[in-house]
Amino acid sequence: MRAVVARERDAGIDGLTLADMPYPHAAENDVIVRVHAAGFTRGELDWPATWTDRAGRDRAPSIPGHELSGVVAELGYGTTGLTVGQRVFGLTDWARNGSLAEFTAVEARNLAPLPADVDHTVAAALPISGLTAWQGLFDHARLTVGQTVLITGAAGGVGSIAVQLAREAGAVVIAAGRARDREIVSGLGARTFLDLDAEDVRDAGEVDVVFDVVGGDVLARSAELVRPGGTLVSVAMPPEVRPADGRALYFVVEPDRVRLADLAQRVRDGRLRLLVGDVRPLAEAAGGWARRPAAPGRTIIQVAA
Ligand SMILES: NC(=O)c1ccc[n+]([C@@H]2O[C@H](COP(=O)([O-])OP(=O)(O)OC[C@H]3O[C@@H](n4cnc5c(N)ncnc54)[C@H](OP(=O)(O)O)[C@@H]3O)[C@@H](O)[C@H]2O)c1
Repeated sequence: MRAVVARERDAGIDGLTLADMPYPHAAENDVIVRVHAAGFTRGELDWPATWTDRAGRDRAPSIPGHELSGVVAELGYGTTGLTVGQRVFGLTDWARNGSLAEFTAVEARNLAPLPADVDHTVAAALPISGLTAWQGLFDHARLTVGQTVLITGAAGGVGSIAVQLAREAGAVVIAAGRARDREIVSGLGARTFLDLDAEDVRDAGEVDVVFDVVGGDVLARSAELVRPGGTLVSVAMPPEVRPADGRALYFVVEPDRVRLADLAQRVRDGRLRLLVGDVRPLAEAAGGWARRPAAPGRTIIQVAA
């Protein structure tokens, strides 16, 4: 099967090549998915799990991509709840071969059924960004109706979904990002927008929750905005500065089949809008384009027509 592979740690995105790789093995409780569309995260070539398996063994050449939408091609021994031919989407394991391939093996519990009226290219943009936004806002920060949340990087994959989910939950959303993104972010439901290149994040004023996807100085400075009892949550890096009287935490997104299905329903009924950027064929995923996508929004690799 055709796949994009990463062979050398130091080669970065330019080291990705298109190759012939063996058809994946379906382990117990696995599903083999014929991939239609896949998401790729630029930073994943730096993650340890891209290069070693769970036992710490070298696993290069590895196939990147941890989001997919496609059709069940085969069931491993003991797999229940899904059927061959069914449309599915979800997250692949960080330490196994991923979704920039015609076929990939995924644990069935990491996949959710995909409704017929949600396009594969849209569904492939949902798993990491959607689950990260949900888990950050509600599982970790416990955001509730009437609270105020500051969301940084609000036009990005995670931020744009977080703005919409927080707004729907009845929170007041202060969004922060690049000036050019003001209009689009305001259209997603943010009450206020801060241009981080021209304004200090501390101008946001007191908030119950900071949801950060940017890290660095923006993360450090936003700690002082958190009200007593509030939470600073970042997915960019572990916070080094804590709110004076609040929690500060970092987390890594986890698979969640039930939540994925719920997010897909929001997409179907128009409550959640995904910003899909470049859609490229698999062959082009081995080019240097991924360093600087042409269009804003999540870059999606179209694997099958
Ligand atoms: N821990 C986890 O489980 C987890 C899960 C998902 C994502 N992440 C991480 O979260 C981060 C965001 O992911 P994403 O998919 O949302 O990325 P993305 O789509 O690239 O969005 C990031 C957004 O933040 C903006 N931004 C970045 N630095 C900025 C700055 N200094 N000032 C103003 N705006 C800035 C970007 O604008 P420009 O593009 O113009 O810079 C972009 O709009 C990444 O570091 C990713 O690796 C972590």
